[in-house]
Amino acid sequence: MAKGSAAVSFRAPKGVPEYVPPLSAHFQAVRETLITTIRNYGYSHIELPMFEDTGLFARGVGESTDVVTKEMYTFSDRSGRSLTLRPEGTAGVMRSVIEHNLDRGQLPLKLTYAGPFFRYERPQAGRYRQLQQVGAEAIGVDDPALDAEVISMADSALRSLGLRGYRLELTSLGDQTCRPAYRESLQAFLFDLPLDEETRRRAEINPLRVLDDKRPEVREMTADAPLMLDYLSDECRHHFESVLRILDTVGVDYVVNSRMVRGLDYYTKTTFEFVHDGLGAQSGIGGGGRYDGLMEVLGGQPLSGIGFGLGVDRILLACQEEGCVPGSEAHCEVFGVPLGEAAKETLIPLLADIRGAGIRTDMVFGSRGMKGAFKAADKSGAVLALVVGENEMANGTVVVKDLRTGEQHEVVQSEVTSTVSRTLQA
Ligand code: HAM
Repeated sequence: MAKGSAAVSFRAPKGVPEYVPPLSAHFQAVRETLITTIRNYGYSHIELPMFEDTGLFARGVGESTDVVTKEMYTFSDRSGRSLTLRPEGTAGVMRSVIEHNLDRGQLPLKLTYAGPFFRYERPQAGRYRQLQQVGAEAIGVDDPALDAEVISMADSALRSLGLRGYRLELTSLGDQTCRPAYRESLQAFLFDLPLDEETRRRAEINPLRVLDDKRPEVREMTADAPLMLDYLSDECRHHFESVLRILDTVGVDYVVNSRMVRGLDYYTKTTFEFVHDGLGAQSGIGGGGRYDGLMEVLGGQPLSGIGFGLGVDRILLACQEEGCVPGSEAHCEVFGVPLGEAAKETLIPLLADIRGAGIRTDMVFGSRGMKGAFKAADKSGAVLALVVGENEMANGTVVVKDLRTGEQHEVVQSEVTSTVSRTLQA
């Protein structure tokens, strides 16, 4: 540092969680487990831009949503384009599908994605400004069986982590044939209430959102509000009943929540949320639904779609709450202990060979004494230590020490990989 310049200390931006070891291993294991389940249902990975044209989200997510009006990270680039850090994944997937004609092949088109999303929300436990999702979208087939598959896929992804303390809530939001009549009667009901100015305005723009108001007095006033489920067209009702029947058949538990309100405007028909009771206010660990008009709104064919986003940050918190955090294994299984500098040259190729057999290895670096080296081996969490000193170098051997029992024996160097593999499998 230049003389006289003050030391500066930086911190991660407010509301942005960081996953450093050992928590990072758990975070990664949660994300991998979710992705693995989704890939087993035939979904292909899609890697999307972290930022897009601001208009994509304004049109796709909805001009009147909190996400668009209050939470977007929007900036101009050097040529004056308005860009926005993606607040969610569905609009970007649709844009990419249209741009690359991915919808011209076999349908449904099944895509999965994972990564960070950005929302300028008020930070609190489980609510972050950079949040991580694993998402899935199935595009192009309007079949209740697909809704049921998407929902049970999300359910089995959560269950494969060992989670049990959550419930699946679902409802139908109807479509353009029945929603306008519902909207009208909900507005008529709300305009009769003594609502404050702001809530009244909300009732004009997006009346459904008033049903999501957390204030007890508003909840009380809206307790008898008309419900979308009573206004569904025959087609939407049959679709919803069919989804419920298939979920019953495959044994996925659910509760119908006719007052569910999602924060994004594109939803139609089946809409769902996974709610975990151990997480306090930020209890939504995943959510999704159909969005049958979205593709057309974004300039594509009138294809339907259904998908979800699972919140990895909150799912990790839920795993901690339930005591089923994955990824607890030590960072290595075999730890090399060279006694002296020359021993490193013998040990390094042996460890490389073991690593080549798919076994995680690490070793002591720097010049530690024998005591320090064994302490490092113990702390590493490895099962086996490989020790090479002057005797072993002279004899062409290695001492394999079982760190669980303290037992050790000498092995010829050419046989060390097979010995290690056998011992770890035993
Ligand atoms: P969403 O409900 O806005 O849906 O987000 C999905 C999940 O992301 C939530 O259930 C929650 O677990 C997590 N999440 C959202 N905001 C935050 C936050 N501020 N901090 C921590 N976690 C958060 C969507 O984003 C849709 N794109 C899902 C979808 C896909 N619908 C159809 N296809």
